[in-house]
Amino acid sequence: MRKKIVAGNWKMNTTLEAGIKLAKELDASVANANVKPEIGIIIAPPFTHLASIKQVVSEHICLAAQNCADHKSGAYTGEVSAEMLKAVGVNAVIIGHSERRSYYGDTDQVIASKIRLVLDNDMKAIFCCGETLDERNAGNHFAVVKTQMENGIFGFTADELEKIVIAYEPVWAIGTGVTASAEQAQEMHGYIRKLMTEKYGKDVSEACPILYGGSVNAKNAAELFAQPDVDGGLVGGASLDPAGFTEIIKAR
Ligand code: PGA
Repeated sequence: MRKKIVAGNWKMNTTLEAGIKLAKELDASVANANVKPEIGIIIAPPFTHLASIKQVVSEHICLAAQNCADHKSGAYTGEVSAEMLKAVGVNAVIIGHSERRSYYGDTDQVIASKIRLVLDNDMKAIFCCGETLDERNAGNHFAVVKTQMENGIFGFTADELEKIVIAYEPVWAIGTGVTASAEQAQEMHGYIRKLMTEKYGKDVSEACPILYGGSVNAKNAAELFAQPDVDGGLVGGASLDPAGFTEIIKAR
């Protein structure tokens, strides 16, 4: 059975003090809620918080970064390497988020380089893909996601795929309050799994968690997570509220 995961992407929110408080509150809230131990819980705070938050949350909560450099080390002012993240206890890195793709020019090739470094440093990569509203309206959503998958992750081996989690995040649903319907999510997740099966075979595709992201909240999570190919969620705004995020975890 593939892993069920609920991940919180804090984006560029909270000061260090507020972030530590939020992490502690979430940890307590999850402990009180008797969440099934097999559910993977991940939080992705800003870089500056990672080392400190690692010290205050229990083992059950994994730590992710929201990005990393596409080079190993050296003269890349302002960048943070995968090796640096590993050294402070980070377990996973979100790569290819649509905000990175659209605001910071992360191309499919840059994304593949970053995933390479994440895997080389023995962390998991949470690979994001998804179409814009224009692409969906033009009927190109499957083709767009297919190209992102081919360029982003299909260069990796079947063994390496074990360390990659896919997050389908339609751009039109991110931060908009408009969620993909459960049918739309399942349709794309089923398609992504079919692509994985064609490329890597059934064992690999059946083992690969595919998360849905885009305006997931405590009200809509259960219906989305009930879909056969939706293995959990990548949650933005709603992950900043410990009680609400705990409800989303419980919905999984
Ligand atoms: P949202 O963000 O839940 O605020 O829509 C999701 C994401 O960007 O990962």
